[in-house]
Amino acid sequence: MSPGASTEDTFRRKDLLGLRFLSAGEITHILDVAEQFRGLNTRAVKKVPTLRGKSVVHLFLEPSTRTRTSFDIAAKRMSADTFSISGSASSTTKGETLLDTAKNLAAMHPDIIVVRHRRAGGAMILADALPETCIINAGDGACEHPTQGLLDLLTIRRALGGFAGRTVTILGDITHSRVARSNIWGLTKVGAKVRVCGPPTLIPMGLEEWGVEVHHNLEEAVRGADVLMALRIQQERIPRGGHFFPTLREYSRLYGLNRDKLRRWARKDVVIMHPGPVNRGVELEPEVIDGDWSVILDQVENGVAVRMACMYLVLGGERAAAREGRG
Ligand code: CP
Repeated sequence: MSPGASTEDTFRRKDLLGLRFLSAGEITHILDVAEQFRGLNTRAVKKVPTLRGKSVVHLFLEPSTRTRTSFDIAAKRMSADTFSISGSASSTTKGETLLDTAKNLAAMHPDIIVVRHRRAGGAMILADALPETCIINAGDGACEHPTQGLLDLLTIRRALGGFAGRTVTILGDITHSRVARSNIWGLTKVGAKVRVCGPPTLIPMGLEEWGVEVHHNLEEAVRGADVLMALRIQQERIPRGGHFFPTLREYSRLYGLNRDKLRRWARKDVVIMHPGPVNRGVELEPEVIDGDWSVILDQVENGVAVRMACMYLVLGGERAAAREGRG
């Protein structure tokens, strides 16, 4: 199925490329399926036969700790066979293109390729070129990181009970952040109000047209928000010699969160999130990362269940289960 609009309350796509392509119903359905998988991750025996006989290739051409491990754990807990390829260990270092790499991998008939690539649109190119292989976008440049957006939504839904009437403030480097884009698409679709806050140089022009409130003053962005989601400055996407703020110390003074700012401006029950990796002492002080407000490790935990749900759904698991009278 092409990445066009859908109003369905289920998920019937071959690929998961971005939250901008999904309806609120599809997003909610993925979260509901992830919720069902969550329990498996704390059982004594963490294995089900759901994807037995399926093979999953993790093609990570950019560094990753959480996403890659979480996809691998998720696939193995569903009994799939998994194969990992990193940028430094692949033939892309010898000049092979992403598309040629993927076509060669597809010739070995994996069922899913999970791909992370530094260029926006990398996953979409593979989805179009490989009709027999499900493609899951694990981050494409500054464009989207849909499974991160979904795990963030699941974490918010679990913490707050829903999205209606809730305000989520996304703080920091919005311009270079695929996490910000996926969250903005996802949160606005399911009915949350989204604010972004950062220096003008790190917020793209025209975000208001997405239905997003734009702030440059941290206090205004924090007051009344239910969730504060801090983002790392994406140094790897900032062109060499690019200067978006005077110094890290200045950035942290104006846009970093510490206990004092939270006590003065934030709701008592505010929820602090961060997709990781965190630069301690820059966007968040350690007392915030490790404090009672933080659900940062809940995000990581929920990531495994979300990735189980995504792999299960792109492979048509629900349709197969229904055909066999199990759905
Ligand atoms: N949140 C996230 O994508 O982390 P990794 O880069 O470690 O996968």
